[in-house]
Amino acid sequence: MGSTGLRKQAKPQGGCESKVSSANRKKLIQEYYSARAKDYDRQKSRTWGSTKGFGDEVSDVLLATFVGFKDKLVLEIGVGSGRNALPLLEEAKLRLVGLDLSREMLEQARAKASSFKQRFDLVLGDADHLPFVDCVFDATVCMSTMHYFESKEEILGKLSKTLVGGGILAYGDLTVAELDDEEFFEGLERTVSKAHSRYCKPSEMRRSLEAHGFRISKMKIVAYRKTYDSLMEDKGVYFSVPLDTLHKYIQRATAKAKAQYDLTDTGLTLFYTMIIAQNER
Ligand SMILES: C[S@@+](CC[C@H](N)C(=O)[O-])C[C@H]1O[C@@H](n2cnc3c(N)ncnc32)[C@H](O)[C@@H]1O
Repeated sequence: MGSTGLRKQAKPQGGCESKVSSANRKKLIQEYYSARAKDYDRQKSRTWGSTKGFGDEVSDVLLATFVGFKDKLVLEIGVGSGRNALPLLEEAKLRLVGLDLSREMLEQARAKASSFKQRFDLVLGDADHLPFVDCVFDATVCMSTMHYFESKEEILGKLSKTLVGGGILAYGDLTVAELDDEEFFEGLERTVSKAHSRYCKPSEMRRSLEAHGFRISKMKIVAYRKTYDSLMEDKGVYFSVPLDTLHKYIQRATAKAKAQYDLTDTGLTLFYTMIIAQNER
């Protein structure tokens, strides 16, 4: 946010159109993941340089959160291919309900976690319309998914209701650099994708969680490098954006953005924020 509290509009030029209606955006997200489901784990492992699909710094925070959760009931919204579900089932031994918009992503998760089917239920559905009664889950996991929701305030309100008092929310997502007031990152994502936007700063997420009655017990920002080639392979190619369009966006970056994201000729630094919070209701 700028000092006025209003965000400047990042304008991708020649990249993906930013004015996509809410229903169309959801359809785009669903189609994007369904088309990419089989490749998702490989692509994430390449980004993080780890066969676990996340770097240790992220997965260690997640797994440490669920020590002592054996047989507790946990919801993962946007469970995807089961990148988090599998280690949580294996190591934390919890009971997991995984919800996702994409049937193809759920099929990946089902195949991968077939030996845990007694403790793993999969739901094809939209987290904006959670099909659960109140106060049932001991914890909710939301990894790399918050930026897809129209309103993080609404979803946090709903998640808070489905949690038992004292329940845990484990949030992780790509975030905007804390001092990025030019919307460089939002513009970058909109340049290479029609479906990816609405990223927030770590401090914004923290404030939203607190406003919904969550107490933050851990917050960690993990910086990692991403090449432009990998950004194109993940998003640009799918949305038919020429590599040159991305390069032009990068070349127009201000000195401040260049420093914040450590832009080089081949890549940039991105920030993944993990927040573990407890529902104080
Ligand atoms: C980047 S992937 C993350 C998957 C998994 N959480 C992980 O960390 O690997 C985002 C997932 O969120 C799902 N998703 C996006 N919007 C959703 C919604 N409104 N309801 C349910 N799932 C959604 C997508 O289909 C996709 O599988």
